[in-house]
Amino acid sequence: MEERVIGNEKLEDDGILDNSIRPEVLDEYIGQTEVKENIHVFIEAAKMRKEPLDHVLLYGPPGLGKTTLAYIIAREMEVNIKTASGPSIEKSGDLAAVLSTLEPGDVLFIDEIHRMPRYIEEILYPAMEDFSLDIIIGSEGNTRNIKIDLPPFTLVGATTRAGDLSSPLRDRFGIVSKLKFYSKEELMEIILRTSRVLAMPIDDDAAMELALRSRGTPRIANRLFKRVRDFALVDGKDTIDLEITQKALDRLQVDKGGLDDADHQLLRAIIERFNGGPVGIDALASSIGEEVSTIEDVMEPYLLQEGYLKRTSRGRIATEKAYQHLQISYQGGLFSTIE
Ligand SMILES: Nc1ncnc2c1ncn2[C@@H]1O[C@H](COP(=O)(O)OP(=O)(O)OP(=O)(O)O)[C@@H](O)[C@H]1O
Ligand SMILES: [Mg+2]
Repeated sequence: MEERVIGNEKLEDDGILDNSIRPEVLDEYIGQTEVKENIHVFIEAAKMRKEPLDHVLLYGPPGLGKTTLAYIIAREMEVNIKTASGPSIEKSGDLAAVLSTLEPGDVLFIDEIHRMPRYIEEILYPAMEDFSLDIIIGSEGNTRNIKIDLPPFTLVGATTRAGDLSSPLRDRFGIVSKLKFYSKEELMEIILRTSRVLAMPIDDDAAMELALRSRGTPRIANRLFKRVRDFALVDGKDTIDLEITQKALDRLQVDKGGLDDADHQLLRAIIERFNGGPVGIDALASSIGEEVSTIEDVMEPYLLQEGYLKRTSRGRIATEKAYQHLQISYQGGLFSTIE
């Protein structure tokens, strides 16, 4: 897949920028007020009890700040963070290796926890509940069970798909927090903060324009900021103003609603090839050459929230708003294309 400027997936070049602009403490973490307030209370209470924080599950679409929050939790608890990702834990030994490096109170962050194999999950249950690890070692005919005591620790799991987690795993998290898309005001605050950190001033109206086109997603807001900054630099401007912002966004083909080419393609496919829907996700995915999981996890959540798309038991439907956005006349779903 081509790299999308506004795709919520991580891109290679996010790296360096990410580390300098990633908020490090809870106070700098903008938005997600409810989640933040709850976590603040749980952290304070755990510290007062001198116990590790209960296990935390963070879920929500890509780029909304799950990894950022995991690091903040470790920082606020004043403990180390060890990281792993679901797909990289293939054997029980992989998990045992990570778990055995933990010191009392540490945070173990497992990203994409829904992609961990089921039998690994089962080893995780006693580790989460009793801080003990039961593993089988040896090979055929000569195996034995060993039980290892672990220090008390906090598992922070992150996933874009809470639904893919088995319920016994989900039930073992004491704190389950869903991250939501950010409001335009919150995104503007994030953009203004990034502007300060990177020492590149931006006018308020330009920051709001960026906020409106960031799909409710901080990662996209920061990425767009960076691109617009490039345009300003080349044009010899030392402040990002509205004019350069609009010019840059148009060049990047991010429309007024924050939708890009790939979104247009998706909505157009439903309208033009499937008469506006309903269309099953598999048919839709193959018609635009996209993976089902990319549509479901990355593209669709924002389109659904903003009402361009509806999900029904019979498949996806393009709404009147989608027709209007693409300037296609809407005939109450009776639209038909000439074959
Ligand atoms: N609440 C926030 N306030 C300020 N900046 C934020 C906030 N949340 C996220 N960001 C910025 O957005 C970037 C992306 O966030 P992060 O990597 O934590 O997302 P994620 O939810 O882990 O995404 P993925 O599902 O792809 O792993 C961060 O590097 C950070 O700079
Ligand atoms: Mg992440």
